[in-house]
Amino acid sequence: MSLAVDRLPTLADADLRVPLVTGGSVPYANLDYAASTPCLAAVRTEVDRLLPWYSSVHRGAGFASQVSTRVYERARSTVREFVGAKPDSAVLFTRNTTDALNLLGRSLPAGTQVFRFATDHHAALLSWRTARLHRLGVPASAEDSVRILARALAEAPNGPKLVVITGASNVTGELWPVAELAEVSRLFGARTVLDAAQLAAHRPIDLAGWGLCWIALSGHKMYAPFGSGALVGETDWLSDAEPYLAGGGATASVVEQAGAEAVTWSGLPHRHEGGSPNIVGAYAMAVACDAVTRLGWPAVVDHEQALTARLCEGLAMIPGVRRLRLWADDHPTVGVVSFGVAGFDQQLIATALAAEHGIGIRDGAFCAHQAVRAVLDNVGFGQSDRALRASVGLGTTAEHVDRLVLALRELVLDGPKWTYTRTGDEWRPTPDPRPVPEFLAGGR
Ligand code: ALA
Repeated sequence: MSLAVDRLPTLADADLRVPLVTGGSVPYANLDYAASTPCLAAVRTEVDRLLPWYSSVHRGAGFASQVSTRVYERARSTVREFVGAKPDSAVLFTRNTTDALNLLGRSLPAGTQVFRFATDHHAALLSWRTARLHRLGVPASAEDSVRILARALAEAPNGPKLVVITGASNVTGELWPVAELAEVSRLFGARTVLDAAQLAAHRPIDLAGWGLCWIALSGHKMYAPFGSGALVGETDWLSDAEPYLAGGGATASVVEQAGAEAVTWSGLPHRHEGGSPNIVGAYAMAVACDAVTRLGWPAVVDHEQALTARLCEGLAMIPGVRRLRLWADDHPTVGVVSFGVAGFDQQLIATALAAEHGIGIRDGAFCAHQAVRAVLDNVGFGQSDRALRASVGLGTTAEHVDRLVLALRELVLDGPKWTYTRTGDEWRPTPDPRPVPEFLAGGR
């Protein structure tokens, strides 16, 4: 297998061991990168180097404050370059993709129509509360998604329009035809925003080259779990909008006028970054962008593709396991594989894999309930609304993948080796003798 292991960066959880219900501990097999990637060791090191200098941003004359301001502003440039945005694009730091899309949702001109697919993840689907919504159905293929969008745009009344484009599916990892969807949108005079939550750490992004207007991304899904995300792109709608959060930083001046406050709001980017900014999160994101860029996309993609292929081959050999997909089997994906296991409660499987084998996967509907229902229907599992999802990234090894495949096979053929009880929605090992980590002991 052609894994460029020597060149891969170290993750902060590389030496993590987790306890088993059967006693002892094993190295953690983290196969849940689609939810949150672990922290790159380089990000942790750099954040540690920043912390003595950590101080207020755009709010202090002190030397550390000036350094912090510089770090924060440099992080904007790094993120802008990482996503291939034009030099004059706004970079607004947010908490995550959901926050970034909600910020854009609050900045839409009156009467904007928003087009999004029913299978989008919830932030992409729901962030548009004041807009007139167009719900696009489940496409039968990538090409079909372009046709569906073109038809909807052609039939829509005049006025401002925004098309939400998913980069890679939260559920299936399938890559959407981003450039083609952007081109159709442009033809009909619609703006576009790319939900890159599942794409940004896994494939190069060319915001300007693909003709997109905005991108939303999350640090916690790109090896920088310090509470930061970003909205990057065109300035006009954002400059005209009311500030996302009213408060210090977003205000150029506040004066008393006829017994009330007359406020002049700041311009971009500060207009939408009210309150003290998350300099640690912004810096962490920038370091992660630099680390992935230095590593090079071929190394990232080869590693993930090799592990994904190994995982899919292994799962295909297990009776009753069905991979979940929207589109044809050969449609390209990032390293996200959802599946269902016939005859089992999916949550019990995820719980037993963790408890007996030290494996972390996700079960549920992955913040994309309609997409999960659609793909379960595709394989005749329509009576369920939960699935399992394994996902890989830079710290994943062949051993992690093989452990999952062997453990799942054993579970399906022989059943769990421990007892589990169900409370409400959740299965729990009973008893559960696993000790909590030392830093949590003592009731903290
Ligand atoms: N959106 C995240 C997921 O897919 C949390 O699991």
